[in-house]
Amino acid sequence: MRYQAIPPTDSLEVLLFSVTTIVFWSVTMEVRIMQVRAILNRLADGHRDPRHSGKGRFWNLSREEFVNGPIYGKKPIEPRDPANSFLIQILKGPVDGFTRMPPGGPYITPEDLAFIEQWISDGAPDIDGIGAREYTT
Ligand code: HEM
Repeated sequence: MRYQAIPPTDSLEVLLFSVTTIVFWSVTMEVRIMQVRAILNRLADGHRDPRHSGKGRFWNLSREEFVNGPIYGKKPIEPRDPANSFLIQILKGPVDGFTRMPPGGPYITPEDLAFIEQWISDGAPDIDGIGAREYTT
């Protein structure tokens, strides 16, 4: 019998394996908080570093600190309630004597705003264990 170092691959088997893997990861990975942070970081780039109550870019802190603040006395996020989340209100326009963020713009795009609103509607979930291994080294 002829020795075969690499067994022949069944292309259907490979395809099924790939599809299963992709479906598994897309169903189990929760990484939206990282995308939200990236959106806000991009918005703040080019500005002076915000003081933000001594917490700077507070959205890069832990999920609990991001949600609860307080930032100038305000709780940024009401999980499952984007309309009443101060973060959303201040990204959309001036509110409670605060100027729209980031000061002077450019401001968030409707697509990015919708993404953050959906994440808040879903409870503002933290990154999950699988995703965390991807991002925390
Ligand atoms: C709870 C929500 C927020 C509140 C109450 C708030 C309030 C303020 C206040 C009072 C200042 C001026 C003093 C300081 O530097 O800290 C400021 C600055 C700034 N904020 Fe916010 N902010 C909020 C969210 C955000 C978000 C989500 C962004 C994202 C881009 C942002 C970007 C900035 C930047 C870049 C500055 C510095 C701008 C400059 O002085 O040139 N803020 N914010």
